[in-house]
Amino acid sequence: MNRGQFSSKFGFIMAATGAAVGLGNIWGFPTQVASNGGAAFVFAYLVLAFFLAYPALMAELIVGRYARANAVKALPMLTDSPALKLGGKLVGIAGLITVAVILSFYAIVAGWMFAYALAPLLKLVGLEQYAHWLTDFGVVRNLIFTSLFMIATILIICGGVSAGIERWSKRLMPTLVLILLLLIGYMLTLPGAMEGLKVYLVPDFSLLLDSSLLVSALGQAFFSLSLGVGCMLIYGSYMSSDENIVRVGAWVTLIDVGLAFVAGLLIIPAMYVAQHYGVEIFDKSGVLLKEDTLIFTVLPSLFEQMGEIGVFVGMAFFLLMSLAALTSSISLLEVPVSYVIESEKLDRNKASWLIGSAITGLSFILIFNFDQLFGLVIAITTRYSQPLLGLFFCLYAGWVWQRNKALSEIKKGNEHAEYGIFWKIWPVYVRFVCPVFILAMFFHAL
Ligand code: PHE
Repeated sequence: MNRGQFSSKFGFIMAATGAAVGLGNIWGFPTQVASNGGAAFVFAYLVLAFFLAYPALMAELIVGRYARANAVKALPMLTDSPALKLGGKLVGIAGLITVAVILSFYAIVAGWMFAYALAPLLKLVGLEQYAHWLTDFGVVRNLIFTSLFMIATILIICGGVSAGIERWSKRLMPTLVLILLLLIGYMLTLPGAMEGLKVYLVPDFSLLLDSSLLVSALGQAFFSLSLGVGCMLIYGSYMSSDENIVRVGAWVTLIDVGLAFVAGLLIIPAMYVAQHYGVEIFDKSGVLLKEDTLIFTVLPSLFEQMGEIGVFVGMAFFLLMSLAALTSSISLLEVPVSYVIESEKLDRNKASWLIGSAITGLSFILIFNFDQLFGLVIAITTRYSQPLLGLFFCLYAGWVWQRNKALSEIKKGNEHAEYGIFWKIWPVYVRFVCPVFILAMFFHAL
C-alpha cells in the first residue's frame, strides 16, 4: 500500500513542528507558568524539554521511520520475543486511547479560539449581542464550536499526508510567529509589562524542590512535543530516508520549545498589563483565577488597548491560533485513523469520519460535565499517560531494539552518524537517563 510521504525536508519540519506547536505552546505553557511559580517553571521546562523530551522524541521518530507503520505495529517489530511483542502492542494501544482523549479536550479549547476569532467580526458589524454569546462560556457555544473544529480536522485528514497536512502547515506556521513577535513588541510598551517580564524571567530556584512543579513541567514538555502517543512515530514513518533525522528532530524541538517560550513572553507580561487596566487575574490570596480560560481574558484586554486596529489584530491572532490548533489536531486524529486504515483495511474517508465522530462524542461528554472532567482528563493524559508511555518508547528503543539496527536507521541520510555526538549520547539517554529520571520524578511526586 502507498502510505504517503512528506515531499521535502522543509515540508516535513513544518508539518512536524505544526503538529508540535499548538494549544500546548500558547494556551498550555503560559497557563502552567502562571499557576506554577513563573520563571522557575520556565527553567524546569526548558531543561526537561531538551534533556528528557528531545531524546524521547528521537526514539519515536527513529522507530517510526524504521518500521514505517503505526505504533501498535511498530513496537512489536523491534523484537522477536512474543512477550515483548505483546507489551509493545499494548503500549501502542494505550497511546491510541490517550490520543483520542487528548483530542477530545483539545477540540474544546480550539473551539474557543475559533469563537474568539469570530467575535470581533460580529462586533464590527454591530451584532454585539451575538459577539457576547461567542465569548461567554456556554454549553451550546461549546458544542457548536467543538463540532465545527472536529469537522475541519476530519476533512483535512481525509485529504491524506502531503495534500492535507503538509500544505497547510507550511503556510500557517511562519505567519503565527510573525504576529506573536509583533504583539510582544507592542505589549512591552504598556504599563505593567516589566513587572510581568520579571515574573517570567527571574526564577526563584527554591520552587524547584516542589515535585508537583517538576511533574507538571515534564508533562508540559511531553505534551508540547506530542510524545508518548505514537504521534511523532507516525510522522517519522512518513519521513523520507534521505533526511538527516537527528538534525530534523533537533529543529522540531528547538522551534517548539522556542515558540512556547515566545508565547510566554507575550502572555505572562500581558497578564500584568491586563491587571493594570483593572482585569482581575489573581484572587486575594494570589491564586490564579479561571486557569483554563486565562488567555481568553488576558489577550482581549490587550487588544482593547490597541483601539480600532486591535479588533483586527485580535481576529488575526485567534484565527491563527485556531489554525495552529488545527495542524496539531490533524496529527492527533491521524494516529487512530492510520491505525484503522492499516490494520482494518478501512478506506481513509470512512475511517476519518468514524473515529472523528466518536471523539466528538467524547468531547460532548466533557462539555456536559465540564467542572468535573475537563481538568481531570488533562491531568491524567498529559501529566501521567504521556511521560509514562514515552518512558516505554525509550525502553523499547534502547533495550529491546538491537543497537546496530537503530544505528543503521540513523545512518540513512547521515552517513557518519556513528562518529557524531548524537550517537555517543542518545543510546545512554534512552536506556538509562530518561527512564530513571521519569520514574524518579513520579515516585517523588507520589
Ligand atoms: N503538541 C500539541 C500542542 O502543543 C498537542 C499534541 C499532543 C499533539 C499530543 C499531538 C499529540 O498543542
